[in-house]
Amino acid sequence: MLSVKEAVSENLSAQAPILELDEIQAIVLRPRPAPYFGTHVLLRVDDVQAGRAFLRRLTPYIASSVNWWDAAKTWLTVGISFAGLEAIGLPNESLQSFPEAFRQGMAARARQLGDEGINDPKNWDKPYGTDQVHIGVSAFSDSEEMRRRALAVAREQYEGFSGVSVLAMQDFGAQPGDRNSLGYKDGIDQPPIEGSGVDPLPGQGRPIKAGEFILGYPGEAGVPLPMPQPDILGRNGIYLGYRKYQSRVGAFNRFLRANGSTEEEQELIAAKLVGRWRSGAPLTLAPDADNPALGADPQRNNNFDYANDPRGRQVPLGSHIRRMNPRDTKLTRLTDVNIHRLIRRGTTYGPPYDANALTEADDEVSRGAIFMFMSAKAMATIEFLQQEWINDGNFIDAGNERDPIIGRQEEGATFTIPKEPVRRRLHGIETFNVLRGGEYFFMPCLSALKWLAELG
Ligand code: HEM
Repeated sequence: MLSVKEAVSENLSAQAPILELDEIQAIVLRPRPAPYFGTHVLLRVDDVQAGRAFLRRLTPYIASSVNWWDAAKTWLTVGISFAGLEAIGLPNESLQSFPEAFRQGMAARARQLGDEGINDPKNWDKPYGTDQVHIGVSAFSDSEEMRRRALAVAREQYEGFSGVSVLAMQDFGAQPGDRNSLGYKDGIDQPPIEGSGVDPLPGQGRPIKAGEFILGYPGEAGVPLPMPQPDILGRNGIYLGYRKYQSRVGAFNRFLRANGSTEEEQELIAAKLVGRWRSGAPLTLAPDADNPALGADPQRNNNFDYANDPRGRQVPLGSHIRRMNPRDTKLTRLTDVNIHRLIRRGTTYGPPYDANALTEADDEVSRGAIFMFMSAKAMATIEFLQQEWINDGNFIDAGNERDPIIGRQEEGATFTIPKEPVRRRLHGIETFNVLRGGEYFFMPCLSALKWLAELG
């Protein structure tokens, strides 16, 4: 069976890539390794010159997207927040050319994102949302040994500078079987990007114009999206959003057990919540029983639409993947689904999913998912998704029901499973993934990093 990475490299396009792959950071196009090991390092810049010197030293080690389909197994990537761009002294004119949501930062946009109640930034882990996270450096690798080496390379570039300090280090890594913090196989679907050099896998849909994701190229409307100025700074860059969720594994398991009397029934409910069995097999193609071989096969596990299931009898309209990518579902509120896509790099942290974790103490264990998403308008897209498709149900005529996986649930929340002759309404749904922090970063291209390092 091919891995996602192998499947991608088998699909090399007959046409040469049109994107400037030697400029675009590797994280933008390269899928995470399988298994994966990594660390996010969050840094603060207290001195303009030290911040620039750090960038100058780090840039030669930042990997590009050249041969992204089969190149290196270990790489470093860097993002800079708005506060970080200020801290390294980007001129005001340029600072003001960034979109407002990015300038304000994720915590300040809590209202637009619906990050309220349990998800309110005042409950976040420090240093998220404090305006102190200036630079994020991430190491990705396919082995623990290489993760450590990559991290040591990054450390050599900031150690010894009094003006750059480490605020936090967050390790992440694959769970057994490449499952996520609630036990599901993840990281299957991605939007195909035109000109990236790889043809879409079956079911990925038509390639989307590169400018929807990477700055400086035409988007779906035929023109590039607005980009930060000057051009050298914006072109080939991308915005990245980072949201750290703590998974309340006990609450999730309690919900499954309260609503399913046998293990089979509980697994079916788990599949209905997401739209895929935990093996990754899509419910559309395996409506009655799991099919792990289908789930593991990148040539088949995404090859579906919802044409034969308009009412959601197989895949509930409110399930996580049908909300997040309705594909051909007829929506009550019309929109072009291709302009709301995000490149996703989900990673997990903490101990693996445990099907027998049932207590409230299990909900407090530090484990979950760090959800990273990228596009040329990542802030606008996440605000749209949070408001319209995650914390609301009107776009699919589901009233005030919310996304069962990432929605912020209120007392009395329900999840509806359409069924003949009568639908089944599940009660007791809780906020299974609590937001513990988040930041917006700009991921400049390699020339832009050099330009930033030489400012002034
Ligand atoms: C702890 C948090 C999360 C969990 C446990 C989770 C779980 C999953 C799973 C199991 C899948 C199916 C596998 C796949 O298609 O890759 C999936 C797909 C997806 N998720 Fe999530 N997810 C989480 C957070 C998020 C967030 C925060 C967003 C966006 C705001 C999101 C957007 C998506 C999208 C767009 C897909 C692909 C849907 C498709 O194209 O069919 N997820 N997620």
